[in-house]
Amino acid sequence: NPDHYHSLSSLSLLVDSLSLQKQIDELATFSDSPLPAVTRVLYTDMDVAGRRYIKNLMGLAGLSVREDAIGNIFGRWDGYEPELAAVGTGSHTDAIPYSGKYDGVVGVLGAIEAINVLKKAGFKPKRSLEVIMFTSEEPTRFGISCLGSRLLAGSETLEKALMNTFDSQNVSFLDAAKSAGYTRDNDDLSSVLLKNGFYSGFVELHIEQGPILEAEGIPIGVVTAIAAPASIKVDFEGVGGHAGAALMPSRNDAGLAAAELALAVEKHVLDSGSIDTVGTVGILDLHPRAVNSIPSKAHLEIDTRDINETRRNEVVEKIHQSAIDIAKKRRVKLSGFEIVNQDPPALADSNIIKAMEASSSELNLNYKLMVSRAYHDSLFMARVSPMGMIFIPCYKGYSHKPEEYAAPEDLVNGVKVLALTLAKLSLS
Ligand code: GLV
Ligand code: MN
Ligand code: MN
Ligand code: MN
Repeated sequence: NPDHYHSLSSLSLLVDSLSLQKQIDELATFSDSPLPAVTRVLYTDMDVAGRRYIKNLMGLAGLSVREDAIGNIFGRWDGYEPELAAVGTGSHTDAIPYSGKYDGVVGVLGAIEAINVLKKAGFKPKRSLEVIMFTSEEPTRFGISCLGSRLLAGSETLEKALMNTFDSQNVSFLDAAKSAGYTRDNDDLSSVLLKNGFYSGFVELHIEQGPILEAEGIPIGVVTAIAAPASIKVDFEGVGGHAGAALMPSRNDAGLAAAELALAVEKHVLDSGSIDTVGTVGILDLHPRAVNSIPSKAHLEIDTRDINETRRNEVVEKIHQSAIDIAKKRRVKLSGFEIVNQDPPALADSNIIKAMEASSSELNLNYKLMVSRAYHDSLFMARVSPMGMIFIPCYKGYSHKPEEYAAPEDLVNGVKVLALTLAKLSLS
């Protein structure tokens, strides 16, 4: 009904900013590090407490809640044509060590609030609307990013790999999932895979995690593409020995090989000549890690990304070649070079972009078309559904650290644009 739909725009969308902020602050207390630093790792007690909190809010919003075998959580509002493909929205609530309150959380709590807003406005969805809380967008515990959405989107390789995946304490994925109440049905993970065409569209609200919107004073980012991450694990082995007695010419120091590789990563990334190519060595562990012992083993984990997949893959190849060359030169063994994932970038869907643009305009909100340099569950949802993302500004672009912050008025704008976009997609 177009009249009814028209009445939805702008004024009738009332976001309860105080409740939303209270929820963000409450969820942040489920943390294994002292506030303002948030640490919420997959299947830990804090993660389970956060899940309970989200399921409760979904229930209060009148959504019917279901969970799959690995703990992706869905809250459904049935449309008046419930047999049509649903419209999905959501994000994650896991938080990497010592991060902030907003990454992912805004896209889950904001989505539930968008549902509340639409209900208060008297909106009746035609296609059902579903809020999703994805399991482990962050790779913290098992080294696999976007675990929930990756499996939902149908990765059979992942389905098999998860049967034999362990965390750094040697706890298996399946045992960890069981301890949180999941994977009870004979460990059948194929049930997680989404049926083709289950969603007609998927939209994720997220803080930008970069500085552009804030610097330019623009309240909404309409995402057109998501950059493609690759992640690599490398191991070097030398013979180690006494830090005083072993003479320099006869050493083969695995730590120095790792240090040299870290610098090579930076060089290869900069050599691409594009500001869009980035690379990070976020983990560098030495063994035995004693001040008076030559490192006999070194382990690196490398993250490199680009909006151009070919260029990103070239960097991965150069890193591999450097690892081989450095091992040879330093007479250490390259005992491991594993490409954990090498994901293709994703494009947002043109109709969803149009819906996000129209929603912003109807709300008199200036917007900017932009790419996402961070990855998101949307990268994987794009494999099984048309996809779009809405960004809001965040303080200085800070993310993955405790200083992460988004202003209440920006949260309100994001929820409104999300609500209006969901309404449009629901009726289309
Ligand atoms: C996800 O958190 C990312 O690293 O982009
Ligand atoms: Mn993150
Ligand atoms: Mn995130
Ligand atoms: Mn992320």
